[in-house]
This record gives sequence, structure tokens and C-alpha cells, in this order.
Amino acid sequence: MPTDSKENCLAEPCRAEPRRTQRGRATPVGSASRAAAARAIHSVRDLGRSLDDALEALGSLDEERDRSLVQELCYGILRTLPRQEALAKALLHRPLKREDRDLQALILVGLYQLTDTRIPPHAAVAATVEAARSMGKPWAASLLNALLRRFQRERERLLARTEQTPEERWLFPSWLLGRLQTAWPKHWREIVTACNSRPPMTLRVNRIKTTPALYAQRLGTAGLAACSTPDSESGLTLERPTPITSLPGFADGLVSVQDAGAQLAAELLDAGAGERVLDACAAPGGKSAHLLERAGGELRLTALDTDPVRLERVRDNLHRLGLTARIVRGDATAPEGDWAKERYHRILLDAPCSATGVIRRHPDIKWLRRDSDITALSALQARMLDALWNLLEPGGMLLYATCSLLPEENEEQILAFLGRRDDACLRPLEGTWGVARSIGRQTLPRKGGPDGFYYAALGKCGR
Ligand SMILES: C[S@@+](CC[C@H](N)C(=O)[O-])C[C@H]1O[C@@H](n2cnc3c(N)ncnc32)[C@H](O)[C@@H]1O
Repeated sequence: MPTDSKENCLAEPCRAEPRRTQRGRATPVGSASRAAAARAIHSVRDLGRSLDDALEALGSLDEERDRSLVQELCYGILRTLPRQEALAKALLHRPLKREDRDLQALILVGLYQLTDTRIPPHAAVAATVEAARSMGKPWAASLLNALLRRFQRERERLLARTEQTPEERWLFPSWLLGRLQTAWPKHWREIVTACNSRPPMTLRVNRIKTTPALYAQRLGTAGLAACSTPDSESGLTLERPTPITSLPGFADGLVSVQDAGAQLAAELLDAGAGERVLDACAAPGGKSAHLLERAGGELRLTALDTDPVRLERVRDNLHRLGLTARIVRGDATAPEGDWAKERYHRILLDAPCSATGVIRRHPDIKWLRRDSDITALSALQARMLDALWNLLEPGGMLLYATCSLLPEENEEQILAFLGRRDDACLRPLEGTWGVARSIGRQTLPRKGGPDGFYYAALGKCGR
């Protein structure tokens, strides 16, 4: 998953003064943002679209501030969805009709502002009620007004009743909660709490162009405080997230945004200048770029992915950083073409996975993933491992990585692979980061720390 989460810092409390429409009627500031947030939440929750796609489909909003507010509302609502749903259910006398699911989403937008933001309640209610009109449902304005005002009157009683089920208590779907409890009997509470929190913004300094110490000084001059990132040679963690446009030298390739757990990949693969390296699931290119930066740009790197749109992002990212690679559209489960004729010294398989380790950056994952996806993903990962293994030089190393917290996609996957191949042996992983698993190591999402990444290193031994 991409690590450049679109979420910004806490949106400013909105102004309460009205804005004039073209017809001269006064509308509370921010009603367009509330309507946009409701449309995005409806897309994710009822139509199964990703939050990134839903936000992109909104098109342009009046001001950058409106966009930040929409993002703030959407991320927050998806983090706390079972609580908002339980409140809405308690407040509605009967469920809304199917064709009014967008209004149901607007109710969640209204409630979230009252439960979890510093937006003044009168402004939150006024803008949300007006949003019903701008969504072409003026009849719902009085319903929203009454419902949100009742919430304000009965707040304590209603909130006390929203922790009745494990879903409401932990703000997680029950199937995933069950899987985490089984996989992580000692850690699951911390994991779930971290998944529901805001992630830190971590940078990877391009060491071809500068050093973390020098770049930290530039950040300081720009008024941005940062500290070095544990277990990362190139990482800096910002005290507060900031838009990338305010990062000094971003456009000139001095720095990228990349989670600390993701930064471990290039360090563990440790590819040296001149080596042939295959990044088999490369888009949007974060780990490809890091591999190149570590080797002074001197790798013979093939960046492969099936998704042509995401491959464009690899191209853009490498271009911004001043790096080059062979960028290829291809299928890692069925190697063919020139890239498949080569034998590689090192292969990175950053496999498509449940992305359960990056939920705090993509809270929609909690509501889009299904229990049955895990078996399908695990089968895809196994096909990739089997196909890519044939492209590895004897003596070479394949690093298997996922941003999953689930053993089926991680240690159980590698154990099964070792059972299928007698020329594969496990290589120890350097470092004391994360948690040791029966095979490989795992970082766990932690407040201020990395996302949840799993790594295992496999060496190709002689037959
Ligand atoms: C976890 S993401 C990779 C993130 C990337 N390594 C980075 O650090 O920026 C997984 C990628 O696998 C790609 N993918 C899915 N199926 C694939 C296949 N059969 N062959 C190659 N790539 C595939 C997806 O398009 C997605 O970009």
C-alpha cells in the first residue's frame, strides 16, 4: 500500500459566519465540505470504493481548507465507524430508505463532528443541516437538525450505550478482531488501539543528495521539528504531519514520505552497486527508490508491477529523486518477456496483501476487506513466490515483505514455501526491531512508531 496517506493535520475549527450564495441566500460556511464528506463515506461504506478513489472522485472543492476538512472528517469517521453507526441507529426512529444511504452518511458526518472534533457544535449542526439541502434533499434538513440537537441534549446517555459489542468497543470488524486476537494474544489490544490512532509522518532522506542531520536542520529552519527514526538509517519523524508542499527540497528530490517499517525493506535486502535487482511489486515505487538511493543510484533495478497507472507513479517518483530503473508492466505470477529472462542477485517481493498493518493510514481497509479475502491473497502470494524463485541466482536472496499482521500471509506463507522448495533456506534478519516470529520478524503499529510490516529473507542454496 502507498504510505503517502492523504490525511492532513487536524483541520481548523470551521468559521461560523455565513457565506452568500449567488442567489444571495446565506449558507453556513463548510456545508459543501460536509456534503462532500458524506458522498465519500457513502462511496466507501455502501459502494465498496476505496477512500482514495472516493476523495479523488469529489473533484475540486472551493478552498484547500475545505479539502483538509473533508479528509479529516472521512478518516475520522472510518476510524470510529461502529460508534457513529450505533449512535445513528439509536437516534433514528426507523432506518432510512435504501436510496437515502447518502443521508445516513451525512448523519455520521454530523455526529462525528460533535463527538470527536473541536468544531463548535452550532457550526457543525448548521453546516450539516445545510448540506442536506445542497445534496438535493431539503426535506431531510429538519430531520438532521432534530437528530443532531437531540444528540447534544442526550449526549452522555447515548455515548454510554455505544460500547455494547466488541465492534463498538474496539472500532474494528469482528472477523478481523478475532483474527488479531488469535494471532497476537499478548499484543492485540495495543495493535487495535494503534490502528485506530493517527499515524506519524516519517520521511526518508535521499542520501545521494543530503544527510538526515543536514536535512533536519533545513526542516528546523522551515519551522518543522523532527527527530531521527529508530531502526532507520535515513528516517526522520516529524513532530507534526505537514503537507508535502511545505517540505524543503521535496520537488528537488531531497526527501520522500515513507513509513519507518517500510524503510526496513531496502536495508534488509542490502543490494550493492552493480547488482541485478528485481522489485517485483514495485508501485508506487517507495522501496525501489530507497534501494537505488542506498546504492548511490548504481543498481541494475527492474521495477515491475501489473498496474499501469501505479507504474506512472513509479516513473514520477524516480524522476523527482533523480533515479533510474527499468520500469516494466508485467505479472509476477507468470514471468514472461525480457525481464523474465534475467537472473537476479536480489529480489524484493513486497506482496499484495490484506494491508492490515497500515490501517491507521487507510482506515477504509477495516470496512472494505472481507474474511474470505485472506485465503485468496495468500494463494496469490504463494504463486508469486513460486514464480519469482526461478528468477533468483543461486546464492541470491529474496526478501518477502507484507504490510499484513496476519500469519496466513506471513510466517505460515514462508513455512509452506520452505516445504515446497529444497533449494530455499531461511536467512537471519539483522537487527532487534519489531517482534521475532517463528519465521521472520514483524513490526507492530505503535503510537509514533512504524506501521505493521512483516519480513522474511530467503537464500537460494545449492542443490
Ligand atoms: C504492497 S504494494 C507495493 C508497494 C511498493 N513496493 C512500494 O513500496 O511503493 C503491492 C503492489 O503489487 C502490485 N501487484 C498486484 N498483483 C501483481 C502481480 N501479479 N504482478 C506484479 N505486481 C502486482 C499492485 O499493483 C501493487 O502496486
